[in-house]
Amino acid sequence: MERGKGEEKEPCLEDGVAAMARCYRGFNPTAYLQYNYTPPRADFTRPDSIVPWKLACLHRAFTEGDVGGEMLVDVGSGPTLYQVLSGCEKFGRVVLTDFLDVNRTELKRWLGEEEGSFDWTPYLQHVCQLEGRGASAWQEKAARLRSVVTEILPIDVHKPSPLPAGSLPSSGADCLVSSFCLESVSPDLASFTRALGHVSSLLRPGGHLLLIGALGESYYMGGPGVRIPVVPLDEAQVCDSLRASGYTLLHLSIYTLPPDMRVGVDDVTGIFFAKARKA
Ligand SMILES: C[S@@+](CC[C@H](N)C(=O)[O-])C[C@H]1O[C@@H](n2cnc3c(N)ncnc32)[C@H](O)[C@@H]1O
Repeated sequence: MERGKGEEKEPCLEDGVAAMARCYRGFNPTAYLQYNYTPPRADFTRPDSIVPWKLACLHRAFTEGDVGGEMLVDVGSGPTLYQVLSGCEKFGRVVLTDFLDVNRTELKRWLGEEEGSFDWTPYLQHVCQLEGRGASAWQEKAARLRSVVTEILPIDVHKPSPLPAGSLPSSGADCLVSSFCLESVSPDLASFTRALGHVSSLLRPGGHLLLIGALGESYYMGGPGVRIPVVPLDEAQVCDSLRASGYTLLHLSIYTLPPDMRVGVDDVTGIFFAKARKA
C-alpha cells in the first residue's frame, strides 16, 4: 500500500522524542538541585525569589477549598519534593513519578532518611509557616509526607498511557501536579500538547491539574555540560494547550524573573502557574 503524506510523519515524531530521551542520559540530580533549589532561586528571605513564589502558588491552590480527594499524582517529579509539600496534607495517597531511575533513587533516599539526601528542611519550614503552623511543625510535615507517598513510579509522558498498567484506579487520580516537566521533555509545541493529553488520561473527570512551567525557555542545564532543549512557551500557548486538552482554566499566575535570578543555568524569562479543572 502506498504511504500517504500524514503517515510519513510518525518516524519524525519518534526521532524528536527519542532525541529528548538521549539528552536526559546525562541528567545529574545533585547538580540540578544545586542550580535551582539553593539561593538565590530558593531564598526564603525574599518573596521575589522563585521557590517562595512557587510555594505560595501551590499553598493557595491547595487551600482554596475545591481541591481534594484520595490520590495526588506528581508528574515528572525529578529529584524534587517541594511541589507536594502543600498537597500532602490534603490527600491520603501521593504518587511520585519520573522517567529517570537516578531521580527516583534520589527521592527514595529522602523518603528513607538516608544521610546525604537533599535537605528539604527550609522548604518544609516555609510551607508550615504558610499554613500558619509555625516553622517548628516541619518535622510533622516531613513525617506526613513520608507516610502518604506510597509509590515512586517510572513515567513517560510521550506514551498514551504514561504509567505502568494498573498503577492507578481506573477512575483516575483526583489531582495532578506537574512542574517544569512537559515543556522540558517535548521537542516542540505539538508534542507538549500531546503529552498534556496523555497526562490528562491519568486524571478523573472533574479533577484538578496544577501545572507549573517555564516561559520563553529554550534550554536548561541538567548537569555540567548537559544542555537540555526546552519548548519556549508563551502564556497564550499554555492556555490554548490546556483548552485543547479539555480543561477549564481556573487561575493563571505569571512570575517574571528578576535579573539576579538569571544565574546562567537556563534562559528562562518567566514562570506560569495554572490551576485547571478537567471537564
Ligand atoms: C526540568 S525537570 C523537572 C523536575 C521537577 N519536577 C522540578 O520541578 O524541578 C524535568 C523532569 O522530566 C523528567 N522526564 C524526562 N523525560 C520524561 C518523559 N518522557 N516523561 C516524563 N518525565 C520525563 C526528567 O527526568 C526530569 O526529572
